[in-house]
Amino acid sequence: MSSKVKRTYGSKKNVLVRSHSSTLSSSPTTESTSPQRKRPLQEQSNTDIGPPSKRAKTMRRTKENSREKGKQKALTQLHFCIDQTVLRTCPRCDLSYTKGAPDDESLHRTHCARIQKGMEWGREEERDMIKGGVVQVSTAVKLKDGRKGRIIYFRGDVGGKIGSKLTSLLETINLALSAPPLTPTILRESKAYLFLLPSVTPGREKIAGCVVAQRITTAMAIASARECEQACQSSPTPTATLIAVDADTGVFCHPTPLPTPLGIPRLFVPSAHRRQGIASHLLSAAAETFIHGCPLDPRKGQIAFTQPTGDGNAVMTSWGAGGVRIYEE
Ligand SMILES: CC(C)(COP(=O)(O)OP(=O)(O)OC[C@H]1O[C@@H](n2cnc3c(N)ncnc32)[C@H](O)[C@@H]1OP(=O)(O)O)[C@@H](O)C(=O)NCCC(=O)NCCS
Ligand SMILES: [Zn+2]
Repeated sequence: MSSKVKRTYGSKKNVLVRSHSSTLSSSPTTESTSPQRKRPLQEQSNTDIGPPSKRAKTMRRTKENSREKGKQKALTQLHFCIDQTVLRTCPRCDLSYTKGAPDDESLHRTHCARIQKGMEWGREEERDMIKGGVVQVSTAVKLKDGRKGRIIYFRGDVGGKIGSKLTSLLETINLALSAPPLTPTILRESKAYLFLLPSVTPGREKIAGCVVAQRITTAMAIASARECEQACQSSPTPTATLIAVDADTGVFCHPTPLPTPLGIPRLFVPSAHRRQGIASHLLSAAAETFIHGCPLDPRKGQIAFTQPTGDGNAVMTSWGAGGVRIYEE
């Protein structure tokens, strides 16, 4: 048995590549070791490195070329070789992109707005509610700042306008978490729960949070601080008896798979809406309604997260009161 849980999210290398299918990835960047966020490590395609390589080519000039050009009378333009990086990492969304490349800048602007404020739930999605099998779990859910929103859910493999919206939303979440796309199999056994807040535009709403809930069979119990201590005392490393989930969060779990019905592979709240209780409300809604007529309780070990981020671990501990388990996606 492996002593480490396979990572749900990508490596922490801050490498972004514009992919053919994605509407939201950017150009390749240098590596960075941000301890907070997990950056995507996507499939790299040489053909996609547009603006930077183009620029390098125009900047490469030999001495001979320069002298020859100098003899020409109609010399009108000089090119300077400025060998400095144009990569920029946005402090608000943590995305690295090529500054000055119109495609990258535009991809970044879209991603940044979605990460901060969330995507819109518009009239088109609203019109498709019945066709998309959307269920409203609760209305007038009060947040800490007094605002009220509603919670809806629908199948993870929903089609139509709602399916397209979910695809874009999951692309943004995966890019933010450096996570791989959820497979069609996972989406088939999942429900997406959204928290919708009234937008400034009348009749429109913002998606202020998303939880994907998935049917699973087993998960592992998280070891308490005391159990980790005991594991360290009985052998030089705790991984002799426990599984290390993530070195950053310091989460270890017991290797025995235990029957667990509900998994949470994705959890995201845009930064402007955090610490209002949205993630907790969404998790409670999922626990309450995922299996019809059978409400689940995290304190009884009935819900599991995939490898959590630092923020995810904080919610997991707070909302799950120590009973949430860990599973591999
Ligand atoms: C994790 C995340 C979904 C939390 O959403 P949220 O709506 O802010 O969470 P809640 O408001 O329900 O938080 C409930 C409690 O969890 C704890 N908590 C949540 N975020 C925390 C943080 N950043 N630091 C410390 N504690 C935190 C607190 O105890 C909080 O209660 P409090 O605000 O009364 O102190 C959000 O921070 C996020 O989207 N982060 C980026 C994506 C991510 O890491 N997802 C998790 C993948 S496992
Ligand atoms: Zn940004």
